Amino acid sequence: MTDLTAPRKFRWPQPLHGEKPRIWYGGDYNPDQWPEEVWDDDIRLMKKAKISVVSVAIFSWAKIEPREGVFDFGWLDRIIAKLGTNGIATDLATATASPPMWLTQAHPEVLWKDEYGNTCWPGARQHWRPTSPVFREYALTLCRAMAEHYKDNPYVIAWHINNEYGCHNRFDYSDDAERAFQQWCKNRYHTIDALNTAWGTAFWAQQMTDFSEVILPKFIGSGNFMNPGKLLDFKRFCSDALKEFYIAERTAVERICPDKPFTTNFMISAPQQLADYSTWRDEVDFVSNDHYFTPGQAHLDELAYSASLTSGIARKNPWWLMENSPSSVNWRPINYRKESGELIRDAVAHVAMGADAINFFQWRQSRSGAEKFHSAMLPHAGENSQIFHDICKLGEDLDKLSNEGLLNTHPVKAKVAVVFDYESEWATEHTTTPTQQARHWTEPLLWFRALADNGITADIIPIRDDWDTYEAAVLPSVYILSAQASQRVRGYVENGGKLFVTCYSGISDECDHIWLGGYPGSISDVVGVRSEEFSPMGSDFPGTPSRIDLSNGTSAHTIADVITSTADTAQIVASYESEPWTGMDGIPAVTINTFGDGKAAYIGCRMDQTDLTKTLKALLEKMGITAPEGSSKDILKISRASEENGAIFDFLFNRTHSPVTISVNGEIVIASRIDLGEDDAADNSVGRTIDILPNGMAVIRR
Ligand code: GAL
Repeated sequence: MTDLTAPRKFRWPQPLHGEKPRIWYGGDYNPDQWPEEVWDDDIRLMKKAKISVVSVAIFSWAKIEPREGVFDFGWLDRIIAKLGTNGIATDLATATASPPMWLTQAHPEVLWKDEYGNTCWPGARQHWRPTSPVFREYALTLCRAMAEHYKDNPYVIAWHINNEYGCHNRFDYSDDAERAFQQWCKNRYHTIDALNTAWGTAFWAQQMTDFSEVILPKFIGSGNFMNPGKLLDFKRFCSDALKEFYIAERTAVERICPDKPFTTNFMISAPQQLADYSTWRDEVDFVSNDHYFTPGQAHLDELAYSASLTSGIARKNPWWLMENSPSSVNWRPINYRKESGELIRDAVAHVAMGADAINFFQWRQSRSGAEKFHSAMLPHAGENSQIFHDICKLGEDLDKLSNEGLLNTHPVKAKVAVVFDYESEWATEHTTTPTQQARHWTEPLLWFRALADNGITADIIPIRDDWDTYEAAVLPSVYILSAQASQRVRGYVENGGKLFVTCYSGISDECDHIWLGGYPGSISDVVGVRSEEFSPMGSDFPGTPSRIDLSNGTSAHTIADVITSTADTAQIVASYESEPWTGMDGIPAVTINTFGDGKAAYIGCRMDQTDLTKTLKALLEKMGITAPEGSSKDILKISRASEENGAIFDFLFNRTHSPVTISVNGEIVIASRIDLGEDDAADNSVGRTIDILPNGMAVIRR
């Protein structure tokens, strides 16, 4: 019998019988929300757009099991067969994301509670608690029924377990959750004394004498301050509780249907850290991600950043973009549409970062319900629309990339790794910190952008991974560094690594206990600086400094370190130049230390992107890190290469709002919004120049 607890090997969904492998293309499909007469039109248009896969039944529990124990698979059988005989595969959901009314009426004890003890009632979705034994039983019964019914279905190519775990039910404060949290604490700390030490309960008389005294971080009165050690562990626990629920669902299906690969859609994007996916990835056969664009000037950079982190989480194996929007979403206060060209450009940027499958939310735009204004591949306007036209063009482009050999290539390793750490974000978002304005997640993105401004596309790497194998690495406000992680940092630089560390790094250990002796306590020897205090900046009180100038013509905002000494091996690159009354005048701001065979730059404050770009330019020069030849700040360049046949595909994206001229050193495989020049439309020689227009891209095979 298969060992279901063993670490999982990478498994990718295989094409339908008789089909060639290609980049999977499709979207969430909700046929049960439409009359069956519409289905034939769906199939016709899916074929027109070259759709090869759809995710089905994600929110279909009430339709599949209309009454307890009564299953109706008829409609689902019909649509899966109709799709399959037309060459469209099914990524089949377990349908467990949204429990039906009969279940929650009979068992209101499965509903989750907020920190005030209020019940989350049905009316939307994900109104269930991950730790409820009752809910688990019902969900696993459905998983088993689905697996039994579809185990031999030739059109099902993957199992989509549940959906976006924790999107709405991440924090549950129910009694079930409390019991599970007590058990989680027991498993982690073994003795109550160890837990007391970890949470620093000597402070404010919070000592516990037994694990039964562990309560959830519920409402403590507004304006009061929760124990930060407890909060950090609560976030770890919530991530683990959801993961355990996922494993239970996957295992229930796998016992019956072991042959098809399993996934669940993560929510990896720069602003979101609801689960520590670097601990989840070993439980899926392939990583899937849902990514929704950030409107405005960070759009492309944030997307590339998040896709790079997804590739890092996937250990550089191919991954699946399970959801993205063709245009606007419906859940922001203002739902900006995508600009012309962005639908195709965005999808191809995910491919550049290693996605071998591109899916959208959703196929046909809803007429009713909470998501009727969310864009879809087939919009309200119908097939005669710009969106559907772009969807068809993208289908052709993805096919072309597959036919030209893109599959079996992988993103080429960058020169620079930017470290991302879920736990540092979780700890820095708590209250009672030096400033509520300083959090971890903003910094890796800022560094990705500043590096791109210097012509370098970085890899975003989770802290547990191989960032220390890169020529250079960035620790951007990595607030939590365990003793072991600090040792890795030390070893990396000692052995010749080039490290960039920014302020608010190495402050606390994994229990959020401060490293003593001056900041950044755990690695101050490596960076060669010692800071005694933070100097936060803001404008909430008249007369406080909101910016402090640096001698290199830039300025600091939000937070700066009061560096009081530097090592003899450290060189000061820039200092503060400020009114004497601020106490910052002449204090070192940016330094480079020689440590072992390597160098560690320290940037002791927060800066805007333009100022960081400028500061970084000088640091890159001093540390001997060069941008790849021919790179430009105006173009985001990502390459995918094959170890087997040496094929290299360069993906080039315009980062600006103006045309950018590039020199083409190969054959253009696909492109969107490019200008070949009036005289040279027929020219395909190497070295010719073309313009990439705003929101445009080109993929060139060298
Ligand atoms: C995701 C979800 C989808 C859809 C989408 C809209 O969070 O998985 O079902 O709601 O958002 O953006």
